Amino acid sequence: LDLPVAGPKRVLLAAPRGYCAGVDRAVIAVEKALDHYGAPVYVRKQIVHNVHVVRELEKRGAIFVDQLDEVPMGSHVVFSAHGVSPMVKAEATERELQAIDATCPLVTKVHREALRFAKQDARILLVGHAGHEEVEGTMGHAPERTILIDSPESADTVEVPETDNLVWISQTTLSVDETMETVRRLRVRFPHLQDPPSDDICYATQNRQVAIKKVAKDADLVIVVGSANSSNSVRLVEVALEYGAKAAYRVDYADEVQQAWLEGVQTIGVTSGASVPEVLVQELLSDLAQAGYGEVEEVRTAEEDLMFSLPKELRRDVDGNA
Ligand code: F3S
Repeated sequence: LDLPVAGPKRVLLAAPRGYCAGVDRAVIAVEKALDHYGAPVYVRKQIVHNVHVVRELEKRGAIFVDQLDEVPMGSHVVFSAHGVSPMVKAEATERELQAIDATCPLVTKVHREALRFAKQDARILLVGHAGHEEVEGTMGHAPERTILIDSPESADTVEVPETDNLVWISQTTLSVDETMETVRRLRVRFPHLQDPPSDDICYATQNRQVAIKKVAKDADLVIVVGSANSSNSVRLVEVALEYGAKAAYRVDYADEVQQAWLEGVQTIGVTSGASVPEVLVQELLSDLAQAGYGEVEEVRTAEEDLMFSLPKELRRDVDGNA
């Protein structure tokens, strides 16, 4: 009789995971603004989509608002990493706000593409999630020219008024595989569809998906640390399930892990979204160690060393250069 031999309990820790360069910069921007200008500093929307980061910044005097009309005239306001539409910038000027733009440079790159294609009278198909802040900001750069494609299925049904000058761009934090499927289906209907000049799904999103794919195939369970509104964290759960994890869950904090998830589980894959501080992963690892999963093996699929300079308003005011 050939019974499977139970091996030791272990954790496969995906790398890269956690903070990307755009999130790191945005969080530091709020911290520096608080240090330099003093509290309160207003932040339009969550600076990054992570509950813990937002709570910690609130403790230091950041005030998060949904709309600029909640910000007193003349105050300092930080725009989140997800970017804003030109209308928001105009409103900030009108209200004489001191704006600090923490839009991730890789989102700004997509904004520029949208502007350029709109100038060339192209019709833009934006692959992304309806209602996501990044999508609102990107659409706002070419509202007349952009059509949102929010799933592979909608690629089959979307109505496009003219199709000879057609280009697709995307949100930066999507599933790479699902986006390729969406584009494949669009191209069946619109064979002349042009590609963007370079990948819009950012390096951090791609790297975290590659790493979790490798981990997932050997994992009975995958736990993704990340918040519910974090697009790239939610995608990591989906990708883990597609690539062989028997179960996958997302948690904000380690104490959300349920005992039942661990039943019969030998190998746990762990990763975190691009907006998640490493301290939250370390808390999870220490809880898992207490539950018997003390052996941790890192599975690294890429090295990352990208860093972005601070928003120019802060370089000017804090460092004295523009
Ligand atoms: Fe930027 Fe990608 Fe992070 S777009 S904020 S580097 S997830």
